[in-house]
Amino acid sequence: GAAQKDLTAEEAELEEFMFENQIDFVSDQLLNNKLAKSKKQRTKKKEKGGEQERLSSTEESSEDEGQDEEQWLAQARAPMTEFEKLQAGRKRLPVFRYREEILAAIKDHQVLVLSAETGSGKTTQIPQYLHEVGYTQAGMIACTQPRRVAAMSVAARVSQEMGTKIGQEVGYSIRFENCTSEKTVIKYMTDGMLLREFLTEPDMASYSVVIIDEAHERTLHTDVLLGLCKDIARFREDLRLIISSATLNAERFSNYFDGAAIFTVPGRIFSVDVYYTKAPEADYLDAAVVSVLHIHISQPVPGDILVFLTGQEEIETAAEELTKRTKGLGSRIKELIICPIYATLPSEQQAKIFEKAPPNARKVVLATNIAETSLTIDGICFVVDTGFCKQKSYNPRSGMESLIVTPVSRAAAEQRKGRAGRTQNGKCFRLFTMWAFQNELDEDTVPEIQRTNMGNVVLMLMSLGINNILQFDFMDKPPTEAIMQALQQLYALAAINERGELTKLGRRMAEFPLEPMHSKALLASEKYKCVDDVITILAMLTVGNSIFYRPKDRAVHADNARFNFARGGGGDHLALLRCYQQWEESNFSTQWCYENFVQIRSMKKARDIREQLTGLCERVEIESVSSVDIDDIRKAITAGFFFNCASLTRSQDYQTLKHAHTVYIHPSSVLAKDQREGVLHSHLVYHELAFTSKEYMRSITPIQPQWLLEVAQHYYDAASIQDLSQKKKVPKAVGKAPETNR
Ligand code: CDP
Ligand code: MG
Repeated sequence: GAAQKDLTAEEAELEEFMFENQIDFVSDQLLNNKLAKSKKQRTKKKEKGGEQERLSSTEESSEDEGQDEEQWLAQARAPMTEFEKLQAGRKRLPVFRYREEILAAIKDHQVLVLSAETGSGKTTQIPQYLHEVGYTQAGMIACTQPRRVAAMSVAARVSQEMGTKIGQEVGYSIRFENCTSEKTVIKYMTDGMLLREFLTEPDMASYSVVIIDEAHERTLHTDVLLGLCKDIARFREDLRLIISSATLNAERFSNYFDGAAIFTVPGRIFSVDVYYTKAPEADYLDAAVVSVLHIHISQPVPGDILVFLTGQEEIETAAEELTKRTKGLGSRIKELIICPIYATLPSEQQAKIFEKAPPNARKVVLATNIAETSLTIDGICFVVDTGFCKQKSYNPRSGMESLIVTPVSRAAAEQRKGRAGRTQNGKCFRLFTMWAFQNELDEDTVPEIQRTNMGNVVLMLMSLGINNILQFDFMDKPPTEAIMQALQQLYALAAINERGELTKLGRRMAEFPLEPMHSKALLASEKYKCVDDVITILAMLTVGNSIFYRPKDRAVHADNARFNFARGGGGDHLALLRCYQQWEESNFSTQWCYENFVQIRSMKKARDIREQLTGLCERVEIESVSSVDIDDIRKAITAGFFFNCASLTRSQDYQTLKHAHTVYIHPSSVLAKDQREGVLHSHLVYHELAFTSKEYMRSITPIQPQWLLEVAQHYYDAASIQDLSQKKKVPKAVGKAPETNR
C-alpha cells in the first residue's frame, strides 16, 4: 500500500532527475540504439519476479563469480579458506588452461612473445608457473611494469597467492623503494629500475628469466629495455626473455626480435555494447559524473563502473561531485562506493579498488589510464570513457616537455572498452561521438620514445658504453632532433665533452636515479657545500605538487602558511627547504603538518627519498654538509637548472633565455605573490613547465644572471647575458629584489 506508493513517487523523482541530467547517447547497434530501451527491458525483468536479484544474492555467499556451479557446490560442502579460494581462482584464469603449453614454448624458444587479453593472468601467473617448474633455481625472475602502482599491487597479490610475506619470495623494486630480500625469487619492478640495474650488472647475471610485461605500453624505459635485452640474449643463451603484451602489436614485437615465436592465449571476451554521445561534450568531466549517476540509477546491481579520467585533480573533483550529488539523492538510490586510483595514491588506499562492493551497493572506480591494461579490477560491467588521457609531449626544438591532456588513440579506446566485458556482457559509454572515434582519433598511441626528452636515457646508454645512440637498435627510433637535444643538454651540463664522450662528472651523474639536471644540481652542491640542503630540495621536488593543500574554504589560511615558508627569500626551492626543515624541527609532527596545510604523506615520502639520496651520496663519498647562505644553495640549483632559465622582458613578461618562448609564473609559486606586489625578478630558473591554459613555470627560484656564467660557461657567454639584461629597461618597481639591485 503506502510503501508501494512511496516507491513510485521516488521513482518518478528519479525519472525527473535523470531526464534533467540526461546525456544523449547513441549506440553503435541500430537495434539497441537507446539507453532508455535497455532500461525498459530491465524493468520488465524485474516485473517477472526479480530472478536477477535472487541470483545476485546467492552470489554473495560464494564470494567468487556466481555462475561457477561446481565451485559453488564444492564450497557448500566444505567452506574454503581464503588461501584455497585464491588457488581455485588461479585455476579459473585463461592462462591456466595453457600452462603446460606456455612452459613448453618458453623452454623451446629463448624469446617468446606472449599475447593475451588483459586480466588473463599473464602478470600474476606466468612468473609463478616458471617458479613452480624450477626456473628460479638458476636466478630470479624479473617482471617489469611500466607503472609503480602496478608493480606494488601485483607483487602484493602474488605473494598472497604464494602464501608468503611481501618482500620475501615475492618482492618489488621501484625508484626509492626496494622491497626485496635475499629470499626473493620473483621480482616485480618498474621498467626504469631494471634499466638502472643494467648499470651495475650489464649481463643481468642475477636473472634466469626477464619478462618485459605490458610491452604494448611502449614506455621509454620499456623500449630501451627491449633494445638492451635483445642484445644480451645473443650472448646469454641460458636467459629466457618473454615479451608480454595485451592483444596489441604482437606481430611487431616478433618482427623486432627477428621473428620470435608468438603464443596467443585466447581470451574470454564477452560482448560490450558501445554508446557514443550524439554531440561532442563541452565538459567531459561533468559528462562523466552525470553518466555515472545515470548508470547507477538505471542499471542493475551488481555491476561496477570504471571511469577513465586524465589525472589526480580531475579524479578528486569527480569524486567530490559524485559524493555531493549522491548525498543529494539520499536514500532514493543505492549506495555508490567511490574509489579513486592514480599513480601517486597511497598504497593502503589503492587496495580499496580491489575490494568487492557489498551486496546492493555499486562501486565506481575513477581511474587514470592506469586501469587501461596494467590493473585488472573484477566486477566491472560499465566503462565510461572520456576519451582523454594525460600524455607527455616534447618539443625537441625548444626542449620543452609538458604533460598535455590528449585524445586517446583508437587502440586505447578499444582497450578501455574491453574492461567492461571481462566476466560478463558489458556496456561502454564513450563521451565522444562515433564520428570522432572514426575520424579524429589516431590509430595507435605514439610510443613515448618519440615524444620525450632523451637526456636521462642517453646518459644511461652512454655509461653502458653505447656511444653511438643514433645507431642503437630501437624498435621505433626516437627523432634525431631529440637525441641531438639530449646530447647538447648533457654537454651543457658538462656530462659529456666536446668529442661526445662521457666525462667523469657524467659518469657520477649516471649513478643517481635522477634526471640529469637533478643529479647535476646534487653534484654541484658538493662544490657549494650545501649537499644536505639540495638533497632536501630535490626530494621535495620529486614528491611533486602534492605537498601543500589548499581547501577551498580556508584558502587564505593555506596561502598564508605557504608564504611563511617563503620568508627569507629565495623563491620556491628555498620555501620547500624551509618547509622540510621546520617539519624536521617539529620532530616530524603530524600536528605541525595540519597547522601548516602540508600533506603528511607527501612529507614522509620526501623523507624517504631524502634518506635514499643521502645513502647514495655516502656510497660515492659525497660529504653531507649544510649551508646557511641561501646564495650557495641557489647557485647549486642554478648549476642544475640553468637550462630552464627565463628572463623578464620589457613588457614585463618572462621569456625563456634560449628560445624566447613566453612563459608565466604559476599561481601556486611563492613568486606569484611578489609579482602581484610589483616585485619582479630579472632572471628565474624553474623546475618544470606545466601547460594548462598557458605555459606555466612551476617551482621557481630568482637568480642573478652572472651566476649563469659561473655555473655554465659552456652554455652562456658573457655577451648573451649582458645583451639580455641591457636590452630591457628595468622598470622602477623592480629593484626591491636583491637580484636586480646590482
Ligand atoms: O596480466 P594480466 O592482465 O593478463 O592479468 P593479471 O594482472 O595477472 O590478473 C589476473 C587476475 O588476478 C585478475 O583478473 C584479478 O582477478 C587478479 N588480480 C587481483 O585480484 N589483484 C591484483 N593486484 C592483480 C590481479
Ligand atoms: Mg598484466
